[in-house]
Amino acid sequence: MASNWTGELIYEGKAKRVYRVDNEFLVMEFKDEVTAFDGARKEHAPGKGRLAAAQTAFLMGLLGRHGIRNHLVDWDGDRKILVRELRMIPIEVIVRNYAYGSFLKRMPLMKPMTKFSKPLVEFHLKSDELHDPLITTDDIIEAGLAGQEQLNEIISIALRVNEILSDYMVSRGLMLVDFKLEFGFDKSNNLVLADELSGDTMRVLINGRHLDKELFRKGASAMDLVKSYEEMNKILGVPLNT
Ligand SMILES: Nc1ncnc2c1ncn2[C@@H]1O[C@H](COP(=O)(O)OP(=O)(O)OP(=O)(O)O)[C@@H](O)[C@H]1O
Ligand SMILES: [Mg+2]
Repeated sequence: MASNWTGELIYEGKAKRVYRVDNEFLVMEFKDEVTAFDGARKEHAPGKGRLAAAQTAFLMGLLGRHGIRNHLVDWDGDRKILVRELRMIPIEVIVRNYAYGSFLKRMPLMKPMTKFSKPLVEFHLKSDELHDPLITTDDIIEAGLAGQEQLNEIISIALRVNEILSDYMVSRGLMLVDFKLEFGFDKSNNLVLADELSGDTMRVLINGRHLDKELFRKGASAMDLVKSYEEMNKILGVPLNT
């Protein structure tokens, strides 16, 4: 499908480089790097880019088959995915099934890994300088980032994504603790799921053991993280190439 897997480099984040192919498509190249604590810890991680691209392509494909509109067009079998360019909303949408991570920092009254009575959906402003602060729906509306109806739609898509991913993970003996989504608008102003779905953006446990980037946050080496992403892909049934 992709006739051109390169283009002008238009953005470089911590996890990916973004290239413009034409006025419709972007290429996202997943880097062989792992970072934590807003980039304070950073290591070379050979093989990670391909594994995270594969996870993203596989899970976006799964969601697409369940009717979740998303930006994925194709995967090159290596570190790049071809996506539809969107007008991104600069917020991170987090869905939580169990109490963990930054949730516990703001709500220390709950025990780690308590299952919530229902999945929680929360919004954070994408801002490394401010450490992605929690924001309210009113904040988002007042800042003109999205309207109430669009936020309602985002919440319902996020919850549906959670059902699809959680069911799939459970069928593979995994537990989905929480994950982060990003959304954008296409040219017809439809909300579209974007960015990535990988061990960098999901917390996934097998028998209580993390297979995701939490390992690196807790001090594991980049090499051990790559091994764990390999294990995650094997368990999820993520193909090694297209
Ligand atoms: N379909 C899309 N169209 C346009 N931009 C997108 C699309 N999907 C994702 N993006 C954006 O591309 C960028 C991917 O880069 P990357 O994730 O490395 O950086 P980042 O999220 O800005 O920062 P961080 O280093 O904290 O992850 C993000 O800014 C993301 O919001
Ligand atoms: Mg990112």
